[in-house]
Amino acid sequence: MTPAQRRALEGLSARYAIPFAEAPLDPLAVFGRKAPLVLEIGSGMGETTTAIAKADPATDFIAIEVHAPGVGSLLNRIAADQLANLRVIQHDAVEVLQRMIPDGALAGIHLFFPDPWPKKRHHKRRLVQPAFAALTARKLAPGATLHAATDWQDYAEQMLAVLSAEPLLENTAAGFAPRPPQRPLTKFERRGVKLGHEVRDLVFRRR
Ligand SMILES: C[S@@+](CC[C@H](N)C(=O)[O-])C[C@H]1O[C@@H](n2cnc3c(N)ncnc32)[C@H](O)[C@@H]1O
Repeated sequence: MTPAQRRALEGLSARYAIPFAEAPLDPLAVFGRKAPLVLEIGSGMGETTTAIAKADPATDFIAIEVHAPGVGSLLNRIAADQLANLRVIQHDAVEVLQRMIPDGALAGIHLFFPDPWPKKRHHKRRLVQPAFAALTARKLAPGATLHAATDWQDYAEQMLAVLSAEPLLENTAAGFAPRPPQRPLTKFERRGVKLGHEVRDLVFRRR
């Protein structure tokens, strides 16, 4: 962790982080308004998160990330840009969804370049599994979308199979989706492209 990230965690959390709680989140208390709420799972260093939140001030965003340096980096970005519509929770995203997000509460979920766990014996650690698809689908409002992206071909295929099999979700495309213009390039994506990996987007709508 860099000194700046540590300082951010110590000095900016009270203002811009939401503590994990075993109780439903009150977006009105957090953002001081009622607006569509989008959750990002695994925001990493927060570059995409910040760019998307800046470009869409009418929507509120909550980033969830377990990795402390990433949270510190995102806190610094929120403070630097004085973003009123972006907050962060440092906790496991599955527990946040289960405990803090009421069913049907979300206008969208973003899952960009989740850890690929490339070794076959580690595939069970991948986030996108049937139970995760069911959980995320339940948290979306009808018509809201789950947008995932990955540069790992076999994970992309797994996502497509798992999300297609979830009865509450319908694919907005015939297979992989065209890249939605609001998703900017991330460092992981640039690295993946350099390695010759093709990036796949998936956009599924809650029925
Ligand atoms: C490969 S990185 C991608 C980061 C970012 N989305 C991007 O595109 O640059 C995946 C991130 O997901 C986070 N992560 C993995 N499992 C998580 C979980 N269960 N809850 C919250 N964050 C998680 C990791 O700490 C890591 O920062």
